[in-house]
Amino acid sequence: MKPIITHKITDDFYLIRTIDHKLKYFEALWDVPEGMVYNAYLLKTPEGAVLFDTTKANFKEPFLEALRSLIDPSEIKHLVIHHMEPDHSGALPAVLEAIGDHVQLWGHKFSKRLIKSLYGLEPNFQAIKDGATLEIGGKRLVFLSMPWLHWPETMITYIPDGDIILGGDIFGSYGIPEGIFEDDGDDITEFLHLAREYFASVIGHYKEYVGKNFLKLENEAIVPKLILPAHGLLWHKDPAKIVNAYAQWAMGKPEKGKVVVIYSSMYGYVEKAAQVAIENLKEQGFHPEVFRFTDEHRDSVVDILGEIPDCEAIVFATATYESGVFPLMAHLLEEILHKTAYNKPILLLSVFGWAGMTGKQLTSMLESSPFQLVDTIEFKGLLGTEDRENILVGVSKLTNAING
Ligand code: FEO
Repeated sequence: MKPIITHKITDDFYLIRTIDHKLKYFEALWDVPEGMVYNAYLLKTPEGAVLFDTTKANFKEPFLEALRSLIDPSEIKHLVIHHMEPDHSGALPAVLEAIGDHVQLWGHKFSKRLIKSLYGLEPNFQAIKDGATLEIGGKRLVFLSMPWLHWPETMITYIPDGDIILGGDIFGSYGIPEGIFEDDGDDITEFLHLAREYFASVIGHYKEYVGKNFLKLENEAIVPKLILPAHGLLWHKDPAKIVNAYAQWAMGKPEKGKVVVIYSSMYGYVEKAAQVAIENLKEQGFHPEVFRFTDEHRDSVVDILGEIPDCEAIVFATATYESGVFPLMAHLLEEILHKTAYNKPILLLSVFGWAGMTGKQLTSMLESSPFQLVDTIEFKGLLGTEDRENILVGVSKLTNAING
């Protein structure tokens, strides 16, 4: 399969999609066995062409080949930089060389600094302010700053003619779609699942900026009819679906009955405690989504993070390891607090052999977070009758907190 495909989106817009099957860990951090795509776009007008973003450095040659199949690069007058992370800017030096010195770059002033620091280049760069416009070939391009979604220099382009938004990372997803648009046959439920994982892991830390930045769209009465993101599917049939999904994930709007249960269990003791909570949650009509770290199974952190924005509550059950929280759970909790900290109830369970220090450590990690810690229950190895009763009381506190 070719690593780059092109597709005519409208009379004058083209998609240049890089398909990254080899990707294993996005940002060298997040397990993404589903792969990923990087979408760049080309706008052709009678007065010259505009290229929006590029691709990763290791795809520069096929990207240039695909670009040349659409246009003589020297006809590109403007290059818009929505975001400087190298999954979109890595091929920039090769693309600039192919286009020539005449090209005018547009982007946030921070992007100019990054082009110099990442690539040692000082091209013809126009730093733009929020709301700045570029008129070309009868089109008006409006540049809107979207700071911290997810870098400070992030911006989008709005084109009133057709109500088009080029969103950069915003509205993006992990995964390699089969189709171009959201109604081309991809399983949208599965796609939104991958988009939620992407949101949680990439945008999550800055989620409070989603509402602030989306307000800008509302204030300008922008209702997109076509959304062209830098990752994943393009949206033309129901663009509000992905806009609303991002807004709801940012707020942590829960899906009724969904409780995320995460446990680590080296020798089965924590697993038994977690099972008590899981069975009780089911009896009460909840739907536990269970993730675990054991000697036979290990879920990925990004999969777990992706389940938190729309859950009602969390059960977090861990073993003690060298007088502390089991390392994989400590790492996971740090990421949860960093990326997906919401005002949602959480119940802590921990097992210890020698001294009950884990509960205190977990409690102190959660104290300054938005989570509502309903209870911390510690027990020693085998679950006794009292331990079971304590867990049931803890689950009851959790479900009471959910039910308000
Ligand atoms: Fe798709 Fe933040 O880069």
